[in-house]
Amino acid sequence: MTVYCYGSINLDHLYTLPHRLTPGETLAATAYHIELGGKGANQSVAAARAGAVVRHIGAAGPGGAQAQLAAFGVDVSGVQVVAEATGHAIILLEPGGENSIVIHPGANRSLDLTAAKEALGAAEIGDLLLIQNEVAHVAQMAEYAMGLGMEVIYSAAPFDPAAVEAVLPFTNILIMNAVEAAQLQAALGIPFEDLPVETVVVTKGAEGASWHAPGTPEIYVPAMAARVIDTTGAGDCFTGALAAALDAALWPPEAMRFAAAAAGLQVGRMGTAAAMPTRAEIDAALA
Ligand code: RIB
Repeated sequence: MTVYCYGSINLDHLYTLPHRLTPGETLAATAYHIELGGKGANQSVAAARAGAVVRHIGAAGPGGAQAQLAAFGVDVSGVQVVAEATGHAIILLEPGGENSIVIHPGANRSLDLTAAKEALGAAEIGDLLLIQNEVAHVAQMAEYAMGLGMEVIYSAAPFDPAAVEAVLPFTNILIMNAVEAAQLQAALGIPFEDLPVETVVVTKGAEGASWHAPGTPEIYVPAMAARVIDTTGAGDCFTGALAAALDAALWPPEAMRFAAAAAGLQVGRMGTAAAMPTRAEIDAALA
């Protein structure tokens, strides 16, 4: 089967800070580098490195970001090259691995919906579609994919209650972190366990992750990080690896363990797309 990912492509500018920036402060970073990122691209790379056949659908500017994505083993034939510059992110990495991120959407907001739907032309019933909130037309693509018989896995990030409400009817698996789950509960006034969706997965950083599906017992997996260097993209890693595992027909408890192992490896490294672990590394961590 194939994992499709409809999502953002960013260039991540990562600044390592000696302490958390306070308002009005000017601070010299102790390190800086640029690499491929974006929640969509990160999830595509995570799924591809975890063993899935992955096709990315998105948009990039003239600078060749799609070639960087292709170098990670992702099929980029569905990436539209547009006049607007590739999206970018300013990532401030604080001691302890926490981060703050500002994104400029750029090309991610220039996606043509018709061409994006055409990129699903070879999709088969049961193929997975990963989506997030950093590109245009998210609800329309989810609805279209579900109409094709695909399984839609939706990361509700960056969190936007209106976007979640629009995409939820076309979602099979909703993935949120604990903060997003609390925000959604506050916005909709119902616990996430009662959302009208087949499965909800909640990631909780060092507290692990849980899988909730009505009528079945909760599946809990502990976090598997040996050391934390940088948590940027950890949720993307978990989601991409989970998709690869489900695509490989692992049962949910095994798929959750696989995803937790992947995220545990990723947070031990600096960076986003390039920090995603390979299938061999994940298998070794699980062994
Ligand atoms: O989830 C991490 C990602 O968020 C970064 O790669 C950045 O580009 C933003 O999209």
